[in-house]
Amino acid sequence: MNRLKTQPVRRVLALESSCDETACAIVEAEHDYGHPQHRLLVRADVVASQAAIHARFGGVVPEVAARHHIQNLIPVIDEALSQAELTLDDISALAVTRGPGLIGALLVAVQAAKALAFARQLPVVGVNHLEAHLLAAYLSDGSPEHKRPPLPHLGLLVSGGHSSLVLVHDFGRYEVLGATCDDAAGEAFDKVGKLLGLGYPAGPLIDRLSTQGDPKAVPMPRAMLGAKRGLAMSFSGLKTAVASHLESHGQPKTEQALADLCASFQASVVEQLVRKTGLAIDAYKLPAVVLSGGVACNRALRSAVAALCASRGLSFFVAPPRLCSDNAAMVGAAGYYRLWRGESAGLDLHAVANLPL
Ligand code: KG4
Ligand code: ZN
Repeated sequence: MNRLKTQPVRRVLALESSCDETACAIVEAEHDYGHPQHRLLVRADVVASQAAIHARFGGVVPEVAARHHIQNLIPVIDEALSQAELTLDDISALAVTRGPGLIGALLVAVQAAKALAFARQLPVVGVNHLEAHLLAAYLSDGSPEHKRPPLPHLGLLVSGGHSSLVLVHDFGRYEVLGATCDDAAGEAFDKVGKLLGLGYPAGPLIDRLSTQGDPKAVPMPRAMLGAKRGLAMSFSGLKTAVASHLESHGQPKTEQALADLCASFQASVVEQLVRKTGLAIDAYKLPAVVLSGGVACNRALRSAVAALCASRGLSFFVAPPRLCSDNAAMVGAAGYYRLWRGESAGLDLHAVANLPL
């Protein structure tokens, strides 16, 4: 069953179905990890987003997501193989997100990966979705200048379900230093977007509108600033602040008022994330910061964390936006490094909705 012992892992076919994206990617290692010229190339990266389907419900409906994953998965795998101009004969291992996520959704890709592994006699490895986000910046962008983040480093992981500062000791060794005690940063963007009637997910639109707004126009609470709060974060108060503003002022009546409100909310999220990242840098003295997760697409956040790192003389890494939001290439990266470490991979794999990092 386990070809790993006789054959190095070169090409990983990765699957992702933890939420509302059905994704397949093929990741190829150029030389082994230890080799100075090692690179992880993305040969194919296909994402079928269900966002438009869930938009009318204002959030992801688990049963609907699972049903669409079943419909989308095989076409997405076919598309990835054809994008890479490869067949299943060229694949040396499979990787799949096994948690955390919606259990019915996770099961679709996990069962498909196990079926493919059984049929093709290939190793299959389960990946933590958060780990996959954290490792997305290890994927090569194809340019000779691309650098991989050093180990250990500080990971700032901000997505729709999680907001955490993580000490990445090594591949597979993660220590959560601080996390949100209520909503995730992306969840706050989406909930504020819902209050403003901006559709789902609202992060990208709030990001765009904010570029036209004044971040000081609407006073917003600055949460979790006290020293005793340490690296803990909180974003639900910001949503409440926007709701109270709307109660007293009504919905913004002009494009400018909407842009100002978005910019003020976004600035407060970014300020909290940057402040907590600064505290973690001071406490743990790490050489680099890696920003990841869907909210890492946010332009204001990318430039604020880059500026923070520049001011402290640290290197800063962030994957291109496409690899920050949910995709399977990051699952391929995490899977590759698990396999490279010699993790045993087989059909006993199962999905776990609340899988910890
Ligand atoms: O990582 P991701 O694709 O899925 C999860 O694992 O949750 O993150 C999705 C989240 C959503 O809440 C979405 O609104 C947010 O990322 N997001 C953004 C931006 N692009 C996506 N938030 C702020 N600014 C953006 N440009
Ligand atoms: Zn995600």
